[in-house]
Amino acid sequence: MKPQIWHLSDARQSLVLVGENGDLPQIIYWGARLRGEDLAALARAHRMDVTGGMLDENPPLSICPEAARSFSGQAGLKARALEGDLIRPRFKFVSAQEGDNSLALTYADGGLRYTATFAIHPQTHIITAQASISSDAPIYLDWLAAPVFPAPQLSDEMFDFAGRWIGEFQMQPHPWRAGILARDNRTGRTGHEHFPAILLPARGATNCAGEVWALHYGWSGGHAMLAEELPDGRRQIQFGHAPQTEPAPITAFDTAPIYAVFSDHGFNGCATAYQRHLRDEIVTWPHPDRPRPVHYNCWEAVYFNHSLPELKDIATRAADLGAERFVLDDGWFGRRDDDTTSLGDWAIDPRKYPDGLGPLIDHIHTLKMTFGIWFEPEMVNPDSDIYRAHPDWALGATDQILGRQQMVFDMSNAQVREYLYGQIAAVLTAYDIDYIKWDHNRVLPHADASQARGTYALLDRLRADFPRVEIESCSSGGGRIDFGIMARTQRVWLSDSNDALERLRIQHNAALFLPMAVTGSHVGPRHCHTSGRVIGIEMRAWVAAARHMGFEMDPRELTDHEAGVLRDVTAWWKANRDWMRRADILRLDSADPAVIAEQQLAQDGGRFVVFAGKADTSAQILPRPLRLTALEADARYRIRLRNKGDAIGLSRGAPLLKSDDMVVTGQYLMRQGINLPWSFPLTMWVIEGERL
Ligand code: DGJ
Repeated sequence: MKPQIWHLSDARQSLVLVGENGDLPQIIYWGARLRGEDLAALARAHRMDVTGGMLDENPPLSICPEAARSFSGQAGLKARALEGDLIRPRFKFVSAQEGDNSLALTYADGGLRYTATFAIHPQTHIITAQASISSDAPIYLDWLAAPVFPAPQLSDEMFDFAGRWIGEFQMQPHPWRAGILARDNRTGRTGHEHFPAILLPARGATNCAGEVWALHYGWSGGHAMLAEELPDGRRQIQFGHAPQTEPAPITAFDTAPIYAVFSDHGFNGCATAYQRHLRDEIVTWPHPDRPRPVHYNCWEAVYFNHSLPELKDIATRAADLGAERFVLDDGWFGRRDDDTTSLGDWAIDPRKYPDGLGPLIDHIHTLKMTFGIWFEPEMVNPDSDIYRAHPDWALGATDQILGRQQMVFDMSNAQVREYLYGQIAAVLTAYDIDYIKWDHNRVLPHADASQARGTYALLDRLRADFPRVEIESCSSGGGRIDFGIMARTQRVWLSDSNDALERLRIQHNAALFLPMAVTGSHVGPRHCHTSGRVIGIEMRAWVAAARHMGFEMDPRELTDHEAGVLRDVTAWWKANRDWMRRADILRLDSADPAVIAEQQLAQDGGRFVVFAGKADTSAQILPRPLRLTALEADARYRIRLRNKGDAIGLSRGAPLLKSDDMVVTGQYLMRQGINLPWSFPLTMWVIEGERL
């Protein structure tokens, strides 16, 4: 039998799969676009030698490596029959369906069928791949990997993500070496600690140059990932639901989609592919043409102390600063005076709101702001009427360790979903609400995939019935950020840290996946509540203005100077948000490790803004020139320092941008870079550029 060959490609990359003898195919090539290649020759050329101490042939590293074919690395499927026997299939080809940019392959072994789908998006370059299994007889499924991708060989390290509350998106380098790098998220949610992705740079790749491969698993129930180097040197990447999160026997199962992309423009080539794909293909926008509104969120201003006159006063001040949406956070329902009580009792607290939410919402509407509200639907406090009525609705043992004094509803229970739907729908029906901040403040008592499926079902039903309501995914900040939840929401609360310095770093790394349009960023209080730092209003405002901007301090604390800066930066953001919403966020390779810099480049390349944040003091005395990226080498650009006025007395020299615009070529900006004035740490330079 001739090898079966499939080639998916876009202008940037090629993915070539080859199956021999009707067996599962291997991805024999994933990288820069192949042109005019004889694919049959490629299939033969891919074969590797064997030597002493090896089997007589190399067992295929297929899209679902099979133990029964002597593959001695990690298998792509781990399952058991009901009686407990291991299932070790040897799949054989059944059918292939080829579309313009897609491929569906089905294989079977007896009553077990395996399907893998691949689709490559010609504009965003994202490859979406998914695996499914179905079985005539129920089986226990311990692990099914989404289609398995090979990892590059000319690569010495890989990056995955760690994190914590108020410290999300920490990139972790790991050297490639024999054996397995494994992630196994047992928390039952995406988690601050486990953003489900891996980046695989070729040796020498930077933000702006070189080859990088990336994969992200779009699932909110906790993932597992393994990056394995086999004794023969081959490398595989597997992603799937965390093992053993399907406790009951199944007859059908789909992995979540894996989103893969190759870049020959460094990390930025992956970042812009993910940003565009998320914004344009994953998120569904209730009001696609409405500018992203400036948020005001009252959490760090009042916490649980809701007083109608105070909230009205705060709203008036927020509107005056430029806010366009007021979000009433935790504390409006049940008897929620602190975090020990009332989750699950979603009735408005008559002590705080004797006439309901109407008076507050009316006031907010007279200020021309829209109104948003906080829920934490999946959670229940033992001290709540609903828990007292239905203790059996909570997930896990009754004597489990609580998290923030709360338990988790069993979202796989249809009665629970019905109840929550009724409670939320009642509030959305009674009032003119255009936004929900959907929180999730603890890990699960045990990981179970049906929990995320139940949450998705509730979200899908609410979205179908209230299609004009936007939803923000929050989970103590960034504990639930992934493309699965983003298919149902429009914004993420990236972090509970409103510390502009922390935020600068978190935003910078999150931009590897998230565009400005979905990334919430708020100007926090002068004394940061999560770090104790005192950061000037300029830095706080510009960091928020680099993403979907909002405020979260008590506006009554602002001095005239602070209010003036905030008004000015907010006005700037409003004037620029429409093109920035569609812009690419490009991480710059800063020569100075103290500077975290990015360039937001308009879709048509005609304008850009650079945010150069000084996160620390520098080792050398003067700023090093900052190189830009992705400009037209021969075009001329006018460059202007937007916040010249922030230059301080210790900047005694005369770099051109302190006084004038400069007009230079893209070549100069990319090869030499911009000289910026000397500045203190915890400050930001904002540089605007326009192609002439
Ligand atoms: C955690 C969120 O991340 C905060 O922004 C806030 O909404 C609190 N929960 C409310 O309890």
